[in-house]
Amino acid sequence: MTGRIVLLIGAGVSAESGLGTFRDKGGLWDQYDLAEVATPEGFARNPALVHDFYNARRANALDATPNAAHEALARLEQGWPGEVLLVTQNVDDLHERAGSSRLIHMHGVLTGALCAACGHRWPAPRVMTVTDSCPGCGASATRPDIVWFGEMPYRMEAIYEAVAQADLFVSIGTSGEVYPAAGLVEEARIARAETLEINLEPSSRPGVFDQVIAGPASEVVPLWVEKMLAGEIQI
Ligand code: APR
Repeated sequence: MTGRIVLLIGAGVSAESGLGTFRDKGGLWDQYDLAEVATPEGFARNPALVHDFYNARRANALDATPNAAHEALARLEQGWPGEVLLVTQNVDDLHERAGSSRLIHMHGVLTGALCAACGHRWPAPRVMTVTDSCPGCGASATRPDIVWFGEMPYRMEAIYEAVAQADLFVSIGTSGEVYPAAGLVEEARIARAETLEINLEPSSRPGVFDQVIAGPASEVVPLWVEKMLAGEIQI
């Protein structure tokens, strides 16, 4: 009971904290054209629109609270005798606020600002505007520190290394539609890790996961973590 666990987190984990998912009915990509608000080309065309989009998501995330799934995953990190790495596609800070510390935000963070001119990073103000200037180089080229479509997610080397060493790979609350995140389960299978999907309903890739637990994250994740910490699940 000391195996290495890699968790891959998607928007479904923050859904019950009131933060929208992307591809569920009425989700963010039903409301916005992702090409306009989540691509470098969209930012170049209309930076004010992109700032409005992320300012609204930042406010939602800052006003949201961690749910029982975030809290249970923090307990897993604290109570599991082996390594636990939480790789999240989410850009909110609810895992940090629930107490998780070993985590990688592969798609960036709403709490971060990035200078498109010099690459400088600093804590994002609650509201970012086109005229904000970079504290590093002074250019008015500030953007949210978010990975957009067509850009390389952050820390992929560390992520692939952790998956290659994993004994258990758990995908929680993600549709598995966006690569490279969606390809991590295949890497885990190559590394002969056990693979588990926890999702509202199984994502559309039958046979990819050894095991599937279906249900709302705030209900089924705590139950799974309690079983793990009670030694009822061996890996
Ligand atoms: N509990 C558990 N799972 C849930 C819940 C819930 N309460 N509500 C929704 N889900 C599941 C859905 O069934 C779906 O499988 O969460 C998943 C949400 O899928 P997406 O909206 O596609 O979100 P995600 O997989 O995180 O998207 C990946 O795509 O747009 C990009 O950068 C964005 O990080 C995002 C990436």
